[in-house]
Amino acid sequence: MKQIEGRVAVVTGAASGIGRGIAEAFAAAGMKVVLSDIRTEALEATTKAVRELGGDVRAIPADVSRAQDVQNLADRTLEEFGAVHVLCSNAGVACNRTLLWESSLEEWDWQLGVNLMGVVHGIRSFVPIMLAQGEEGHVVNTASMGGLIAGSDPVAMYMTAKHGVVALTEALQDQLSAQGDKVKCSVLCPGYVASQVLDNFETLRPPGVGSPSDTPEGKQSVDAENQAIAQGMPPREAGEIVLQAIRDERFYVLTHPEWVAMVEVRMRAILDGTDPGRPGLPPT
Ligand SMILES: NC(=O)c1ccc[n+]([C@@H]2O[C@H](COP(=O)([O-])OP(=O)(O)OC[C@H]3O[C@@H](n4cnc5c(N)ncnc54)[C@H](O)[C@@H]3O)[C@@H](O)[C@H]2O)c1
Repeated sequence: MKQIEGRVAVVTGAASGIGRGIAEAFAAAGMKVVLSDIRTEALEATTKAVRELGGDVRAIPADVSRAQDVQNLADRTLEEFGAVHVLCSNAGVACNRTLLWESSLEEWDWQLGVNLMGVVHGIRSFVPIMLAQGEEGHVVNTASMGGLIAGSDPVAMYMTAKHGVVALTEALQDQLSAQGDKVKCSVLCPGYVASQVLDNFETLRPPGVGSPSDTPEGKQSVDAENQAIAQGMPPREAGEIVLQAIRDERFYVLTHPEWVAMVEVRMRAILDGTDPGRPGLPPT
């Protein structure tokens, strides 16, 4: 997208972490920004803080796992700003560390409902608006490095959903390019970014979804991941990477290019016809 200033952006999962960082980068670049999240109080507080950066900023709550909520988000954005040029489908939740054959259907519904169907709902509600506008537009879907590598350690359901987001966005890119060159898309695959994702897992997990902290091994694994995330990239830096990717019309957006060797492990196994194995721990 060549024109950024004055354009309208919607960011889901914007109350904290990467979504907040994206909203801050957009507001600082002079965009009109709609922040959206399921946690309404945190959303209000973050929106107020982002507004203080000087942007024209609104809060519209939505649960991205519900198609009607995402449609309302699109409708209300049009009421507020009359257009929408950028959608960042970023809302996501971490998952429990259960073995796949012991996982609950409630957790599958939640994982796929937020992490994958949330992105589907964004595409269904927003892309028709962007195409009809006939102006430049951009969709950024947040996957993860977990969507590019093999293995299950330690979050198998999450990785399944995030591989889905990568495949979905690759397909979207193919379909959009057949419609012309005005609406583009990117898939964001972050490494560790300092966020509240593990705390929010505990706050948001629905009935039937256990906590990894219930067992000593699970607790140890969560503590280690919490530490890695806390030491991760500042969210605003991730937000600036997203903004630059939109300007550059770059499809694959990696926050940690040094992690790409893990992708190569999977690709090599596919090409060699061997088992995927475990990619090993990412470099911190
Ligand atoms: N932080 C990392 O290291 C990292 C790495 C790879 C991918 N990601 C992805 O980045 C995205 C942002 O996560 P984050 O790390 O900033 O975590 P975060 O928990 O700080 O932010 C995610 C936001 O999504 C919101 N949310 C959860 N369920 C929702 C729903 N049903 N509807 C609307 N909003 C909902 C949460 O309330 C939260 O504000 C997620 O998709 C996550 O999977 C994060």
